Amino acid sequence: SESPGQYKVRDLSLAEAGRHQIRLAEHEMPGLMSLRAEYGESQPLAGARIAGSIHMTVQTAVLIETLTALGAKVRWASCNIFSTQDEAAAAVVVGPHGTVEDPQGVPVFAWKGESLEEYWECTEQILLWPADPDAGADAPYAGPNMILDDGGDASLLVHDGLAYERAGEVPADTRPGEPNHSEETNVVLALLRRVLQDDPLRWTAIAENILGVTEETTTGVHRLYQLAESGTLLFPAINVNDSVTKSKFDNKYGIRHSLPDGINRATDVLMGGKVAFVAGYGDVGKGAAEAFRGQGTRVIVSEIDPICALQAAMDGYQVAQIEDVLDEADFFITTTGNKDVITADHLSRMKNKAIVGNIGHFDNEIDMAGLAQVPGVTRTEIKPQVHEWTFTTGERAGRSIIVLSEGRLLNLGNATGHPSFVMSNSFANQVIGQIEIYTKAGTDEAYPVAVHRLPKILDEKVARLHLDALGARLTELSPAQADYLGIDADGPYKAEHYRY
Ligand code: NAI
Repeated sequence: SESPGQYKVRDLSLAEAGRHQIRLAEHEMPGLMSLRAEYGESQPLAGARIAGSIHMTVQTAVLIETLTALGAKVRWASCNIFSTQDEAAAAVVVGPHGTVEDPQGVPVFAWKGESLEEYWECTEQILLWPADPDAGADAPYAGPNMILDDGGDASLLVHDGLAYERAGEVPADTRPGEPNHSEETNVVLALLRRVLQDDPLRWTAIAENILGVTEETTTGVHRLYQLAESGTLLFPAINVNDSVTKSKFDNKYGIRHSLPDGINRATDVLMGGKVAFVAGYGDVGKGAAEAFRGQGTRVIVSEIDPICALQAAMDGYQVAQIEDVLDEADFFITTTGNKDVITADHLSRMKNKAIVGNIGHFDNEIDMAGLAQVPGVTRTEIKPQVHEWTFTTGERAGRSIIVLSEGRLLNLGNATGHPSFVMSNSFANQVIGQIEIYTKAGTDEAYPVAVHRLPKILDEKVARLHLDALGARLTELSPAQADYLGIDADGPYKAEHYRY
């Protein structure tokens, strides 16, 4: 069977540059640093073997080193082919106390600009652990016992792998024109076919050991709920995304920062006075629209949900269908987590030099395969992750559009993702989620196999950990006021159904 690799990153000599950035990020991540102070001694994650799949950024480095400070062993991959910061990956492998010659950190399998094959091999690597001397002679895998996921690709490999292993075969590749055809699906099927042939009980062995998963994003959580509904979810899951201190902060304020960052680094085109079209007005869409508005851009929003459409209208945005604005908007940004939002036909009818990008989790929001098939279209690389697509026939001849990160999430492909302070909130939820599942497994309080949210009191704790750093002084409830509202003075302060 496959022997697990030590690590695979671009260049270990980038570690020093990465370490400086990590040191500065630690200062901006009070949530993670307070968890290190709170739990460093008691080591609640001792014995945890975490397979982590989140964009390998500087902020993720601080998350990884928080997990190890709490006792966990970790293997890591990025959850997107373009999102790794190579210096952060190198620094994590070298570790705070290691050297380039003698790395002592965490095995990372990630670099910026992976092929799809490499991407899925890296995801496979975080699920393969060196044999554990403590595991006993007949244990075939030391395997992970926890997954920390963003978008669900690590969980998908285990679930799909196990399903095909039980069925004894992996389905045939999909072809162009067939439903759900994508190059990436075929890459995954090929990997699972290889594993089934070489190592036919791998997924059974791996799945057996896994106590649970904590999932970072809207799209990954959506996949987990689908598995739970179909009765095929294999282990308990914590939906980190729907902690208030995650989706109402990272998805919104994080995007408000990192969307313009990505557009600026990619194109440096002025946003003020222009027109931006934002597809979707959920948490990410709200942050995106606000970012454009802050630059003096006129924003047009599309929605399928009447509540979100009305919110957009009340916030002062025009609500329209994409077809209405193809020759009007200078920027087209998708934030829906849905597929086929911008079609090849839309792309070929846009205003000359329109800038097109996606900030939702997967690259199926914009039909890039369809664009490549438009007759006569040519693609010019302006620089990595920035491509000009020029139409050469018909009345569009000579017009072009600029596509960012080949339709993959542009804030991580063209920039460095969300800033540390907002990620400290998201990742504090991740760490608490890992502790919850890992320490309660096998006890009366164990999380059953289902998708759970963290208790509100822990959500409030994450927020509390970030107030001092901003000089925010919280008002305390008097006992009489607490009594009047019928709540505990120490929280939770809101009912479960409160929407913030
Ligand atoms: P959400 O569910 O709050 O918002 C998505 C919105 O899109 C919904 O209001 C939905 O009604 C709307 N929508 C769906 N199909 C549509 C269509 N065809 N046209 C117009 N609107 C449509 O989800 P959220 O949290 O805003 O996340 C959106 C995506 O962004 C997800 O894929 C999520 O995983 C990803 N994400 C990306 C981040 C990044 O750093 N790039 C950070 C956080 C989330």
